[in-house]
Amino acid sequence: MKRRNFLRNSSLAIAGATGIHTMPAANSRHDFRKPVLTIAHITDVHIRPDENVPERFKKCLEAVKQHKVDFFLNGGDSIHDASYNNVKRARVTEQWAVWDECMQLLKGYDVYSCIGNHDPWWSAPSKEDEMYGIPYVVKRLGIPNNYYSFTRKNWHFIVLDGNYKGITLGEDQTQWLKEELEKIPAGHYALLMSHYPILTVTGTWEGGQHKDHKELKQLFYKYKDKVKVCLSGHQHLLDRAWYNGVHYFCNGAMSGFWWGKGNEKSAQPYYYQETPPGYAIIKLYENGEVENEYVTAYIEV
Ligand SMILES: [Fe+2]
Ligand SMILES: [Fe+2]
Repeated sequence: MKRRNFLRNSSLAIAGATGIHTMPAANSRHDFRKPVLTIAHITDVHIRPDENVPERFKKCLEAVKQHKVDFFLNGGDSIHDASYNNVKRARVTEQWAVWDECMQLLKGYDVYSCIGNHDPWWSAPSKEDEMYGIPYVVKRLGIPNNYYSFTRKNWHFIVLDGNYKGITLGEDQTQWLKEELEKIPAGHYALLMSHYPILTVTGTWEGGQHKDHKELKQLFYKYKDKVKVCLSGHQHLLDRAWYNGVHYFCNGAMSGFWWGKGNEKSAQPYYYQETPPGYAIIKLYENGEVENEYVTAYIEV
């Protein structure tokens, strides 16, 4: 292992305890530099109208706004759930209505969303129903497609949809991703956001890792000068991994234990296992470096 990578990993291991990944001492010459972008990454909001969840979420959003971010990335599972068999149309509609109401607080910000597994309504009366499946989620989230990309400064943001058979990107999206990475010019970098983690530490005891992770790992290695960061959620657990120069940040959940007080495995009230409710503030640098800080959110009823 090259010394530079060793230092980076040491920094990660130490910082892991606090949930903050700071840049290694070896790069302290950069400390006076400003990031080119500061982004909020929220995920797994699981919004619902009951238990005062909208008001609690709005308080969280106000806290996030204090960080003076350039824009928001939303990692999916925006609504509590539309995916189970017995969910009625009215329940789906009321969840999206409170999502819209809460998002009013982010007027003036761009919000780039990803589709979670709980967002699509599969038990619509027919596949022709306008609220059935992925296209309706695309519409409600106001995104251009179920997978898409955009560019800010010298960073390319690639938003993926893992809701294909067995948690994969499927053939078309994989081909699209290859073309997207190929197009990125030298000196530019890629941040990918998925709902399910591509590489995860907590995947050893919680399900949800991308099943095409080996193929993606190889693809990222081919474009190792470009791919720097992969963000995810779904686990409701805060974890981070590093492999072949790519940081994989799984940034917990805004809703913690789905806005509930938790269970016997919760380390503290509202935690899912040892992870508090929260969100990440991400700083991206012109040279491809990244900082990811997880901030605890206070979601008490
Ligand atoms: Fe979730
Ligand atoms: Fe999920």
